[in-house]
Amino acid sequence: MGINFEFATISKIIFGNKSIEKVPDIISSSMKNVLLVTGKNIQRAELLAEKIREKNSKVLIFSVETEPTTNIIEDAVRLSGAENCNLVVGLGGGSVIDSAKAIAAMATNKGSLFDFLEIVGSGKPLVETPLPCIAIPTTAGTGAEVTKNSVIKSVEHKVKVSLRSDKMYPDWAVVDPELTYSMPPALTASTGMDALTHLLETFVSNQSNPFIDMMCREGMRRISASLLKAFKNGNDFESRENMSMAGMLGGIALANVKLGAVHGFAGSIGGIYPVSHGKICASLLSAVLEVNIKAAKKQNNVSILEKFVEIARIFSGNVEANAEDCIESIKQLVQELNIPRLGILGLTSDNFPELVASAKKSSSMKGNPVTLSDDELYYILEKSS
Ligand SMILES: [Fe+2]
Repeated sequence: MGINFEFATISKIIFGNKSIEKVPDIISSSMKNVLLVTGKNIQRAELLAEKIREKNSKVLIFSVETEPTTNIIEDAVRLSGAENCNLVVGLGGGSVIDSAKAIAAMATNKGSLFDFLEIVGSGKPLVETPLPCIAIPTTAGTGAEVTKNSVIKSVEHKVKVSLRSDKMYPDWAVVDPELTYSMPPALTASTGMDALTHLLETFVSNQSNPFIDMMCREGMRRISASLLKAFKNGNDFESRENMSMAGMLGGIALANVKLGAVHGFAGSIGGIYPVSHGKICASLLSAVLEVNIKAAKKQNNVSILEKFVEIARIFSGNVEANAEDCIESIKQLVQELNIPRLGILGLTSDNFPELVASAKKSSSMKGNPVTLSDDELYYILEKSS
């Protein structure tokens, strides 16, 4: 069959400690009105805003304190239009960067957000190029700084869906590991597990290719070496750097290759329960591994099984580990990171039928290495509760 793939990514990445200091220099003199999207920590945004104002640009700060909803994005787009903004900067976690990307896209494309949203909307393609966008992550995990979609919650439909387009890559990703030092341990754990799940699911995806595999292996090795260390000591610069790198690699991978059952469920669970995306992924991962390995064995899918062996060896450190050993290694890691099970986080079996139905329709489920039956999907939810 040979090797066949297409690959695309963002045009410019600036990686390294203190790279945030380079942001004012990449803002051109024509960008006079800047919308700076940030989270709760307005102070950090104020520092950056001051530096940008020194370049004679006006800066308007918009704070997104929750995961983005369709209403939040529409409010911000109205504000951006009223102020004639011609650059959007996102400084924050995945929610903030997803918001910045969606605002930049909707600022130039006429119509309602629902015209373009997947699943709950019409899913029309974006026509116009979004406003220029600079993404500066302050967490290490979602990879949103290098992806071409924004995850947005539709409150009325109780589900998280994507606004997705090849036009939505930010123009610059400025990845400064120092910005992640202030993440508390619980956030380090959940965002880190999100990154791990991106790398693992794209590695075994039915759309995987050797070029993406290379990034997945590199990212998983860095996470295996560093996630627990960063969790225990937030100032361990080498671990923070490894996690920032791994988060970015996971984002590059998922923008090119579909994910799998964990993310298939994560959107629908996140739409119903107010639990962070990373925690949901962490709770589902070992059950999904178990079901996928079992199904791959039944189908004698040797190439996928070899990949599970590789994952097991990376995370256990044992060169003789077999495919199933990755289930235990991941379970242990999630336990050490103190991430509770979905049952404790509120998931009940009453919601299983709607979660299974909605997961089957999700875009990520199409990347799962094997097609899963309803029984297998129910098993994953039961095992993770
Ligand atoms: Fe994710």
